[in-house]
Amino acid sequence: VRVAFYIEEIMSDTTSLTGRLYGRRKGRKLRPRQVDRLDTLLPQITVPQDVTALDPVSLFTPAPSAIWLEIGFGGGEHLAEQAAAHPDVGVIGCEPFLNGIVNLLKQVEERNLANVRVHPGDARLLLDALPDACLSRVFLLFPDPWPKKRHIERRFASHDNLSAIARVLRPDGEFRVASDEAQLILWMEEQVNTHPAFRPAPGTGPTGRVLNRPTDWPQSRYEQKALIAGRDPVLFRFQLK
Ligand SMILES: C[S@@+](CC[C@H](N)C(=O)[O-])C[C@H]1O[C@@H](n2cnc3c(N)ncnc32)[C@H](O)[C@@H]1O
Repeated sequence: VRVAFYIEEIMSDTTSLTGRLYGRRKGRKLRPRQVDRLDTLLPQITVPQDVTALDPVSLFTPAPSAIWLEIGFGGGEHLAEQAAAHPDVGVIGCEPFLNGIVNLLKQVEERNLANVRVHPGDARLLLDALPDACLSRVFLLFPDPWPKKRHIERRFASHDNLSAIARVLRPDGEFRVASDEAQLILWMEEQVNTHPAFRPAPGTGPTGRVLNRPTDWPQSRYEQKALIAGRDPVLFRFQLK
């Protein structure tokens, strides 16, 4: 009951402040161990929900060398790998899908990751609460494609969301994007390249496509799925102008 209340409260805050959130929030029924992690672990590492101005450094002890944000971490595989490989970095993940959150919590517990914080809701809400130029990396990996024309406004990489990401990124920061959906790849490529704040990161192709995959870019679950299905994911790296 406590979990249900906690999550519902977050979800209703999310919708009231930022408009509708599209996509699934719940999937398969949770097992008792998963409910237990939501009850005990999530409150310890959750980002405070009731703030309009959040100092992200204050979320971590000791103070991190940098702060990274993953938007829509899904099952949390990429986030957990990054947190394990960079214990000095504070990694914040946003994800409204409860079954994804419990999957990340399992990895946090089993791998003893002290540098992970979770915003169990809409990333737009967190972006708005963050101060300017506070993040060294933002990840938007395999966002929902919303292929139908009438749903295009649901895609995350809208002009306004890109402006919000640009505002919170540090001048030396990096914005990493990926997808395996042909239409979405082209659309996001255009969105970011025509946005006045971004430019392709050095060493990438003319529109930011990654030519040589950085060693510190682990695969996410959706990337693994795409590769198994024989699709070719496209990765992008951008910086601020
Ligand atoms: C296709 S999945 C990809 C998950 C993961 N990034 C991966 O590559 O495996 C997209 C995820 O974005 C999440 N998402 C959708 N809208 C979001 C929002 N406004 N804020 C945060 N996450 C969101 C969905 O719940 C979903 O888990």
